[in-house]
Amino acid sequence: MALSDLLPKPVSRTGAERPEKPEKPEKRPMFSEIDRGNIVWFWNRYLKSKTPWLFLVLGMIAIQGFVYQQFLALTEDGLRVIFESGATRDLVKVCGIVFALFTTRALMSYLIPRLSVWLASDAVMKMRRDLIDHLMTLDLAFFERTQSGEIILRLVNQSQGLSQFVGQATVNAVRDAATILIVSGYLIYKSPLLFTAALIVLPMILLLLQHVSSTIKNIQATAENALGAYMTGIDEMTSGMRTVKIAGQEPVERARLVTATEGIRSISIRLQAAQALVMPAIDMMAAFVYVLVIGGGGYMVLSGDFGLDGAGIIAYLLGLALIFDPARMLAGFFAKLQANLILLDGIRSLYREIPRITNAPDAHEEFDRSGDLALEDVRFSYDPQHPLFDGLSMRFPGGRITAIVGATGSGKTTVLSLLTRLYDVEEGRVSIGGTPIDRLKIKALRSSFSVVAQDIVIFNSSLKDNIRYVRPDATDEEVRAAAEAAEIADLMDARGDAPLGPKGSQLSGGQKQRIAIARAFLRGSPILLLDEATSALDQKTEDKVKRALNRLSEGRTTLIVAHRLSAIAHADWIYVMDVGKVVEQGTHADLLAQDGLYAGMYGAQKQSYG
Ligand SMILES: Nc1ncnc2c1ncn2[C@@H]1O[C@H](COP(=O)(O)OP(=O)(O)OP(=O)(O)O)[C@@H](O)[C@H]1O
Ligand SMILES: [Mg+2]
Repeated sequence: MALSDLLPKPVSRTGAERPEKPEKPEKRPMFSEIDRGNIVWFWNRYLKSKTPWLFLVLGMIAIQGFVYQQFLALTEDGLRVIFESGATRDLVKVCGIVFALFTTRALMSYLIPRLSVWLASDAVMKMRRDLIDHLMTLDLAFFERTQSGEIILRLVNQSQGLSQFVGQATVNAVRDAATILIVSGYLIYKSPLLFTAALIVLPMILLLLQHVSSTIKNIQATAENALGAYMTGIDEMTSGMRTVKIAGQEPVERARLVTATEGIRSISIRLQAAQALVMPAIDMMAAFVYVLVIGGGGYMVLSGDFGLDGAGIIAYLLGLALIFDPARMLAGFFAKLQANLILLDGIRSLYREIPRITNAPDAHEEFDRSGDLALEDVRFSYDPQHPLFDGLSMRFPGGRITAIVGATGSGKTTVLSLLTRLYDVEEGRVSIGGTPIDRLKIKALRSSFSVVAQDIVIFNSSLKDNIRYVRPDATDEEVRAAAEAAEIADLMDARGDAPLGPKGSQLSGGQKQRIAIARAFLRGSPILLLDEATSALDQKTEDKVKRALNRLSEGRTTLIVAHRLSAIAHADWIYVMDVGKVVEQGTHADLLAQDGLYAGMYGAQKQSYG
C-alpha cells in the first residue's frame, strides 16, 4: 500500500495532473473570470428560484437601514431641542419614536437570519444533492485517480463552509452595505463637502483589499489542498492499518499525520494573519476621518458660513460612527469572500469533470444478450504514453465458456472492464450479439453481466444485505439459495444482522470471495464474468463452489480469468495473453499440443501441485 504523502502538497482540484505549484504565489485578482462564472452559476442554480424570498430579505434590510437614517434625523432634532431649550414634550416624543425604531430594527435582526439561513441551507442541500448525483455519473477512471479526501472535502467541509458564508456572512454584508448607502446618502444631503473630504480614505481601502485578497486566495487554496491530502491520509492509514502494523510503521504514520496537522495549523494562522490586517487598517482610516470631520466640521460650524450647527455636526459624527462599524464588517466580508471563492471553485471543479462514458442519444435497450461478445482491433491505454492494447481481437461465443490466462499485468482484467464499458476503447469495436456496446444503454448493457471481480468490495452492512446488493428486490429465499450455492449460507446464519466491518474487514479473504460468488448467483444475468473468482478458496470448498458455478454457467456466456490452469481446463476456448497481446489460443488439448507458453505454464503448475 502506498500511503500518499501527507504533507501539504499541491494536489489538483480534482486529483488530475497539474503542474507543481510555482515558487512565487500567483497573483490572484479579486474577481477572476472563473470567480464570476462560479458566482453566476451558483446564483442561477440555487438562488434564482428564491428571488421573491431574497427580495423580502432585502426589504427587511432596507428597513433596518432607514431606521438608522431616521434615528440620525431624530437625534439631530432632539439635540436641537436640548441646545435651544425647547419643550420637554418634544424630547419625549423623539425618545418614543427612537425606541420604536430600534424595536423595529431588532425585529428585523431576528427575522433576517432566520430567513437567510433557511434559504442558504436549502440552496447548499440542493447543491450537495446535485454534487452526489453528478459524482454518480462520473467515470470509474475519475475515482481511480482522485483522492478520497478531496471528494470528502468538497461534499462535507467546503459545502458547509459555503452554506454558512452565503446564509450569514453575505446577508450581514448586504445589511451593512445598505446601512452604509442609506446613512451616507443622508450625510451627503447634510453636507456634501464634508462627506467628499471623508471619501479620501476610500481608495486606500480598495488598495488594501486588493492586496489582501490575493494573499488570502493563495493561502486558502493551499489550505484546501493540505486538508484534502490530510483526509486522504487518514482514510489510507485507517484502512491500511494491517500493513502499517506489520511493517512497524506506526511512528512514521504518526509523524506524517502530525506534520500534516501542523502544516494545516500554520496555514490557518497565516490565513488569519492576512485577514486580521483588514480590520485595524479600517480602524486607522476611521480615526483619520473622525479627525477630519471634527476639525473641518468644527471649523465650518465656527465660521457660520456653511449652514451647519453644533447639533448638525454631532449628528454627522454619529452618522459616521454608524457607518464605520458596517464598513469594517464589510471589509472583513471581502476578505472572507476571497476564501469562499476558493471553496466555491473547489466545488465547481467537480462539475468540470465530464463523464466520457455516456449513453449515445439514440442508444437502445434491446439487444441479443446471449449473443457473442467480441473485441475487434481494439486500441486502449490507461496512460497515453504506454498503450496496453493495440489491435487486440478476441471473441467470446454466446452460451460458451471462454477462459483468459496469462501473466500478471497482461491485461486480463482490463478486457473485462472494456466489455462492461467501465472504460471505453480508443479505437476498434466492442460488440455484443453484433451490436457495438456504445450503441446500447449503459444500464441495460451492465445489467446483462454477473461479475465476480478480482478486488471484492464488501460494505459495512449484514452479510445478507451484502449479497442482496446486486439485486435489492430479491426475496429471502433467493438470497439463501445464492448463499448456499456459494457455500456461505452457514456464515450468513451465524452472522445474522451483524455488520461486517468497514470494507468487510471482519471477514477472511475466502469468505469475501464467496459473498462475491453468491452475488453472481443471485444476479443471474446472462453473461458471467469470473476474474480469479475462486483463487482464495481451499481445494474442497473450491471444488464445491466450482460445481455450482458450472451449473450457473450452463447456457450462459461465461468468461473465466484464472491463474490456476486446472480451473479452466474445461473451457471451450482459451486465450493466452502476454503484455496486452493474445499470444496463443485454442482448447486445452490444442494448447498443450502447441507446446508453447500455455503448455509451459501447465507443466510448471502440475509439477508444483504434484
Ligand atoms: N486503473 C488503472 N490505471 C492505470 N493503469 C492500470 C489501471 N488498471 C490496470 N492498469 C495497468 O494495466 C495493465 C493491465 O492490468 P490488468 O489489471 O488488466 O492486468 P491483469 O492481466 O488482470 O493482471 P492480474 O493477473 O495481476 O490480475 C497493468 O500493467 C496495470 O498496471
Ligand atoms: Mg486482473
